[in-house]
Amino acid sequence: MQQVPYYQEAFVSFLNSFTVNRKPESLYNPINYILKLGGKRLRPVLTLMSAELFNCNYKKALNAALSIEVFHNFSLIHDDIMDDAPLRRGQETVHEKWDLNTGILSGDAMLIMAYQLFENYSPETFQALAKLFSKTALEVCEGQQFDVDFETRDDVTILEYLKMIEYKTAVLIGAAMKMGAIVANASEEDQNLIYDFGKNLGIAFQLQDDYLDAFGDPKTFGKQVGGDIIENKKTYLYIKAVEFSEEDKKTELMHLYSLNTKDHSEKIKTAKQIFISSGSAKATQNEIQNYTSKAFLVLDKLHISEENKEALRQFGEQLMNRNV
Ligand code: IPE
Ligand code: IPE
Ligand code: MG
Ligand code: MG
Ligand code: MG
Repeated sequence: MQQVPYYQEAFVSFLNSFTVNRKPESLYNPINYILKLGGKRLRPVLTLMSAELFNCNYKKALNAALSIEVFHNFSLIHDDIMDDAPLRRGQETVHEKWDLNTGILSGDAMLIMAYQLFENYSPETFQALAKLFSKTALEVCEGQQFDVDFETRDDVTILEYLKMIEYKTAVLIGAAMKMGAIVANASEEDQNLIYDFGKNLGIAFQLQDDYLDAFGDPKTFGKQVGGDIIENKKTYLYIKAVEFSEEDKKTELMHLYSLNTKDHSEKIKTAKQIFISSGSAKATQNEIQNYTSKAFLVLDKLHISEENKEALRQFGEQLMNRNV
């Protein structure tokens, strides 16, 4: 297996050849815009790496990798509408740059394109990929709806939160890896193990995303820092802060999260202070470590070389320590 930047470059050059030059431009320009905005390309890289783990040339997995990235970017356009987010990857979100209707329809078109890319595979592979994709995409919708429903609830539990992030984020990362294994014709056992590895890593990934949403550096983060606080998102940080705080701080935090205030900066400042003083920031970091370790445990059962297991571990460590 090659290093991560190798797969990133191979993927981006494949993606660049995918630019859509069809009409109407008002439908396709936003699609090209979001796809070219950059991003870590985590999911497609995992698809390519996974194919190679199971002794298949990554080139065979490029269409599956692109499908996953197109779906991911579609979900970001709609997510930014739902979260009222102004910034994505350091640039304007699609619905801000264009408008709401553009965000909705360009997103819809991307979801269809993501399916279409499976037509590049044989009927058996097509069926396996499409089946996994449909299940995963529906779970992402369920996770996204839980996320929105939780904004107006004050009794969300950690278990509910973990289920929500498993669905909105982790299953897609699991599926990205499983798709590489499907294209490589890996055994069903290995397909399921690599899915579990990706899913656990995905839970750690979303916990880290929530952590960075509050504590990331605005200069490099690329998204509006504090966006989750503004939107009353019931993250691990929030739920644990409520659990760990004395009565007065708990009341203050719950009150802040019952409002849709105009003065965001005070709300963000106070919430972050309570996240730190209550110990919930630290607890979140521990939980990121926990889920990363859970992912590493799955590696023991996989039928791949020790060297490749080590490469996956390094990848997981890097993800845990990212700041974007
Ligand atoms: C953002 O995903 C949405 C989440 C599931 C947290 P990424 O952090 O992978 O976004 P990009 O693609 O690198 O911008
Ligand atoms: C997004 O979760 C999950 C999906 C897009 C399905 P977030 O709302 O936390 O993602 P960001 O922080 O906007 O990237
Ligand atoms: Mg969001
Ligand atoms: Mg969201
Ligand atoms: Mg987030």
